[in-house]
Amino acid sequence: MHVTCCFICRTRTSGHFSVQIVACGTLPLTHYSYRTLTDAMEWIHEISELNPFIKNGAFDFSTAEANCEFTKASLLRDYGLKVELDPARLCPRVPIRVAYVEWIGELIPETLEPKTVTGLDVGTGTSCIYPLLAAKIYGWNMIGSDIDDKAAETAQKNIERNPEIEKLITVKHVSPQRDFFDFPNITFTMCNPPFYASFEEMETSLSNKTSRPAGELKAAQTELITTGGELGFLQRMIGDSKRHKDILWFTSMVGKKDTMEKVCAQLKEEEIYHTVVSRRPGKTKRWFIAWTFTPTAKHECVSGDYSLGAVEKVLINNDVPYKKVNTSIVALPKGDIWSRRYKRAKLRKDTVEHQQQYEFLFTEKTLVWKQGTDKTVWDSFGSWIARNLKENK
Ligand SMILES: C[S@@+](CC[C@H](N)C(=O)[O-])C[C@H]1O[C@@H](n2cnc3c(N)ncnc32)[C@H](O)[C@@H]1O
Repeated sequence: MHVTCCFICRTRTSGHFSVQIVACGTLPLTHYSYRTLTDAMEWIHEISELNPFIKNGAFDFSTAEANCEFTKASLLRDYGLKVELDPARLCPRVPIRVAYVEWIGELIPETLEPKTVTGLDVGTGTSCIYPLLAAKIYGWNMIGSDIDDKAAETAQKNIERNPEIEKLITVKHVSPQRDFFDFPNITFTMCNPPFYASFEEMETSLSNKTSRPAGELKAAQTELITTGGELGFLQRMIGDSKRHKDILWFTSMVGKKDTMEKVCAQLKEEEIYHTVVSRRPGKTKRWFIAWTFTPTAKHECVSGDYSLGAVEKVLINNDVPYKKVNTSIVALPKGDIWSRRYKRAKLRKDTVEHQQQYEFLFTEKTLVWKQGTDKTVWDSFGSWIARNLKENK
């Protein structure tokens, strides 16, 4: 199976950019970023809106219209979300955005009731994609801010198309000079910053790319260009975050390695705790960065082979409370209840001072320390689980 791949040239008209296709070839479908695309080929034939874009049995992603229709259809199919997308605006790639929202899900303590969590999406865009996904997947309250009145207006309409989550989401039209985070009771923030510092930088960057598997890029100027580019935007966010240290996590998607390295260096220099991961659900690699001023929010992660069935067995056999969340398991012990010290005290029927709530999240490949402050408990849990998994093999 193949998708169309395109070589591009760019034009600018009254604040809008359009990247035109000047030549087309094909790429194997596995290069395309939609995780659903292999089976997508089965279902796209049943969606009448997608039919005009099917050429020789393959979906042709070479136009902004095709990308918008495909994104709309996959959001409805995979998440039950109804959206309208303007082909003249940035069309969100769903897999990387889902990966970002789910990574934030790993940062937010399980013990926080979803209705008590409020996320702020800085620059929500016309699609309002992050608030819609976050409200739908996690049931969090979300605020989407944007400096573009058209974006705020269109985002509001997309929220209203989804009545079951409409009450969870608010859109705010803001001024560019405003403090990014000046909203009440925010738990976390997220952002996909405009990428470029100028039209010229965009030109150079795009002309260095030989292909764009998702085809034509159309966007408004505010969506792609900002003073100081992506790095400047992140630096302003770091500056503003210092006035809002009560917010648990500040996060951002980062598109450029150079930005990620400079931001990490700045946070390190300023001794601000931060964590960063990279994800590549398709061809394009992105980084997600998070920083916090809350000492208890620290977030460590180790890699390993954690067969979730085997992990569950160990937790059950040792009376460690846990919960299943999407495709992960979160162990929820109060203190080091697996330790010999604890077990001996229990046998003697001594009262054991208990202790803080910990959260340890397992995916098939990682173990994440989400909550609790004592590093010796985290270290002890990691070696205890590894030992048990090995013994039970
Ligand atoms: C790259 S787009 C991201 C849109 C959407 N979040 C997405 O991921 O598809 C960046 C958005 O940030 C908005 N923006 C730019 N400066 C902003 C600011 N100071 N405060 C809030 N939004 C801003 C732009 O208007 C644009 O909608």
